[in-house]
Amino acid sequence: MTNDQDRLHLLPAIYTRRSVRQFTDEPLSGDEVRLLLEAALRAPSSRGRHTTQFILVEQRDTLRELSYMREDGAGFLREAPLGIVLLGSPMECEKWIADATLAAGYLQLQAEALGLGSCWANVYGCYTPNGQESVEYVRNVLDIPYQLEVLCIIAIGHKAHETTPHPIEELRWEQIHLERYSLPEEGEQEG
Ligand SMILES: Cc1cc2nc3c(=O)[nH]c(=O)nc-3n(C[C@H](O)[C@H](O)[C@H](O)COP(=O)(O)O)c2cc1C
Repeated sequence: MTNDQDRLHLLPAIYTRRSVRQFTDEPLSGDEVRLLLEAALRAPSSRGRHTTQFILVEQRDTLRELSYMREDGAGFLREAPLGIVLLGSPMECEKWIADATLAAGYLQLQAEALGLGSCWANVYGCYTPNGQESVEYVRNVLDIPYQLEVLCIIAIGHKAHETTPHPIEELRWEQIHLERYSLPEEGEQEG
């Protein structure tokens, strides 16, 4: 933990979280899974409607099948002891992407707080190598009804390696504007 972080009381999980795509074989405990799900269900949602749904996948064969929903970028699902699939319901809530995204973020931060690693595997807007929508591929594998959409799968497990936080000076402070949008000062632009 840096002095900066100490002073500012940044949540430790926010500071340390990095995407982890390699996991040990150790399964998650029931308590860990319950805490993860509680965190996801406590995420804010549009008008408090909480329409996001979650499918827990632990079976290795199913995780393997899911890992082929994309040409690349989802192979780590094959190694993960748990994949949590986040589903939205556009007919119930037009803000379903925002709701499910926040729930996914809460899941990832709670995973980090438990000392676990996690990574987002994107589904919505992606395609299989055959050109099928990844959402339709995942829908078939998991019997998801047609009225629900699939945003992503969060892989969670015990980290196979340590990670280092992003250094504070690498954060994109220049993307923060005060009071109104401002163009970068001359000489501050990259390139
Ligand atoms: C909306 C979103 C989609 C992402 N999709 C993928 C993905 O499909 N595959 C993957 O390996 N990582 C994915 N990631 C993880 C990012 O690659 C990762 O967060 C980014 O490289 C920054 O690294 P960090 O999480 O360690 O800070 C995704 C992250 C977000 C927020």
